[in-house]
Amino acid sequence: MPEPWDDDAPQTQARAEALEEDWAGGSCLLPGRPDPCLVVILGASGDLTQRKLIPALYNLHRHGGLPETFGILGAARTEWSDQEFRAHLRQAVLEADGGDSGPWETFAQRLFYQPLVYDDLHSYHELAKRLDKLDRKLGCRGNRVFNLAIPPTLYTQVALNLGRAGLAAEGQTGSPAGGQPGGNWVRLVVEKPFGHDLASARQLNAAIGRFFHERQVFRIDHYLAKQTVQNVLMLRFANAIFEPVWNRNYIDHVSIVSTETLGVEHRAGYYERAGVIRDMFQNHMLQLLSMVAMEPPSLFFAERVRDEKTKTFRSLRPFPLDRMDDYLVLGQYQEGQIQGRPVVGYRQEPGVAPDSLAPTFALMKVYIDNWRWQGVPFVLVSGKRLARKLTRMVIHFKEVPHSLFRQVLGPHISANRLILGVHPEEAISLTFQSKNPGARLCLRSVNMFFDFNRDYAGPRLEAYEKALLDCMVGEQMLFWRQDGIELTWAWLDELIQQCETCQPRQERIRPYPAGTWGPEEVWRVLDRLPAPWS
Ligand code: BG6
Repeated sequence: MPEPWDDDAPQTQARAEALEEDWAGGSCLLPGRPDPCLVVILGASGDLTQRKLIPALYNLHRHGGLPETFGILGAARTEWSDQEFRAHLRQAVLEADGGDSGPWETFAQRLFYQPLVYDDLHSYHELAKRLDKLDRKLGCRGNRVFNLAIPPTLYTQVALNLGRAGLAAEGQTGSPAGGQPGGNWVRLVVEKPFGHDLASARQLNAAIGRFFHERQVFRIDHYLAKQTVQNVLMLRFANAIFEPVWNRNYIDHVSIVSTETLGVEHRAGYYERAGVIRDMFQNHMLQLLSMVAMEPPSLFFAERVRDEKTKTFRSLRPFPLDRMDDYLVLGQYQEGQIQGRPVVGYRQEPGVAPDSLAPTFALMKVYIDNWRWQGVPFVLVSGKRLARKLTRMVIHFKEVPHSLFRQVLGPHISANRLILGVHPEEAISLTFQSKNPGARLCLRSVNMFFDFNRDYAGPRLEAYEKALLDCMVGEQMLFWRQDGIELTWAWLDELIQQCETCQPRQERIRPYPAGTWGPEEVWRVLDRLPAPWS
């Protein structure tokens, strides 16, 4: 049976042509202007809208990245007028922007608001009427991006109601503003988490699929929109020197790190159910892994790249559930110090159960069963309230096969490391051995260092700006496809289930003081491997 994305060849071709045009005429920062459209933010009174979505849209506006003709309609339960919505957002945006209100005024004129009762279909018909009216007023041609900035428990209901109210329909040449060749387009942006496990991810997808085609669905992973994460594919596939050594013959192991100093903050309601594996591994960590591990796609097009990622996810070796202690360490932070400041333990955070067993730290050793990676461990580590915020992928090469310096230096010479830094350093560095100046033979490890932002002073796109822009131009490359979502959930489901049901469960969740690098037990899993954060 063909997959829903297999019939997207015409779109891929159209996108290829659009990309060629952009490349010929656009700048590096922005492709050409997207089609006129309305961005509809569902959950517009919430935190995500204020902190991420509106600042991102505002910055795009300032850089000329939004369509010439655009509107943003916020919808949520709160009974606000357009004016109240604008006033609510003004402060947040101007604070982030250093107080320059010039572009804000032109941006604010494009902001609108419509109260919405999520479980009332009538309310969606009202929304549809308001959108038609705005389309006529602004000239957005019926093109719409619906952004779900609501709690994940509402995704199914809202997606279904949008569909039932006729808001998912595309290709209507008689769309409100008179239509355009090929009709209007409609896209749905879904924030993570996409499901809580395999079964719920499938159910959610089935509900969305009742009215939206796969090509209309944009499942966000903001890690993919980070420039230095995208750059991994350029490093690997736009240079001839890396791929020949990018395999089990030369690579000893790979470590992928995303550690934070932040605690659970105000998100206990969600985090208590999720824990670190659902929050960070099913999505961000596995996307980072796929960037390092995937095979080269034949073309840099969304479906080809996502096909290769899917193959990587399919090759993940199932965890040996009877020997989990050799592959996985889970932890939960206790009170401690972060940057010299005392902080409480996870169980003392507001909204967290005093006997909570939600893991806030995980380190896992993963293998990929394919020709390229057989036997190479991938160490993945992520956690909250750790010693430092650090995001990076490190390729640890093998030691030299034979040391001709052994009489002087011993048999072991430090192996080369290629560090792909995402945070705080957006940089690539290669460590290698060099001779110390002098008459004696002494070696030292030195660094070749490339700063991603060096010699570039122009404006930049933050992750959400890139993701929203890609959605407006219909570029799916940086978004999850449903097969990837299902494969990663399927791979993690058994492991999560075992961790959540094993007895006594508290023995699986090891305490660690805030401000450290996690529980002591990590050394057992790491075995001979060095600390991934060092
Ligand atoms: C989010 C997680 O997806 O990513 C958060 O839900 C986490 O728990 C955040 O803090 C980390 O993102 P970043 O970009 O700060 O590394």
